[in-house]
Amino acid sequence: MEIIKALKWRYATKKFDINKIISNDTLQVLKESFNLTASSYGLQPVKLIIVSNKSTLKELVPISSNQQQIGQASHLFIFCVDTNVNEAYIRTYFENIKSIRNTPEATLSSFRESLISGFERKSSDDIFNWGAKQAYLALGNMLTVCAIQKIDSCPMEGFDPVAYDNYFNLKELGLRSVLVLPIGYRAGEDVFANMKKVRKDLKDSIIEIK
Ligand SMILES: Cc1cc2nc3c(=O)[nH]c(=O)nc-3n(C[C@H](O)[C@H](O)[C@H](O)COP(=O)(O)O)c2cc1C
Repeated sequence: MEIIKALKWRYATKKFDINKIISNDTLQVLKESFNLTASSYGLQPVKLIIVSNKSTLKELVPISSNQQQIGQASHLFIFCVDTNVNEAYIRTYFENIKSIRNTPEATLSSFRESLISGFERKSSDDIFNWGAKQAYLALGNMLTVCAIQKIDSCPMEGFDPVAYDNYFNLKELGLRSVLVLPIGYRAGEDVFANMKKVRKDLKDSIIEIK
């Protein structure tokens, strides 16, 4: 039941305590958790940008639908899709498998070639949409990990991705922002913290076929 307690404790935080900063040790746990997120084929097409500079965080508020949490957070996670999932990217991934697992070339080659030709047939929009799904998965993972670590967070689509991409020159890095997650510690006066969770009854959200 510890996990249910943590998930009930978590809420989309509307106000962070600007004076509380996440420790480097906890941040390291969050970084590793992000990197351990499952991804389609294991290709990890999502890159995480972590912003902690206070003046940068404040500058991002107007391009985040004026959501004040961005300026108050200890850190901001920006989930970005790598727009260069191409032949070279896939080859690098398979070289990593070989070096980590000592898997022989013969075991990997046909899977690698089918992935390369599969991705060559996709449009750049298709690849971006596929990558964005992986970003949502990483966000979900981070929401749970943060809750277990007693870190507050607010998942957000309410920001201007094009303005973020320009602000951080993401195009030059081959990235596009898709989601943001301010994290930190809830402010004592955030009235949302004690509100009851609004959820469907379990019977309305789950179909069990026995
Ligand atoms: C993908 C996604 C985008 C969201 N965008 C925002 C947002 O921009 N601003 C905000 O305050 N909350 C945002 N939320 C939070 C939801 O409104 C919130 O999770 C939902 O109402 C359930 O409440 P709870 O998370 O407090 O249990 C978002 C949630 C998700 C999953």
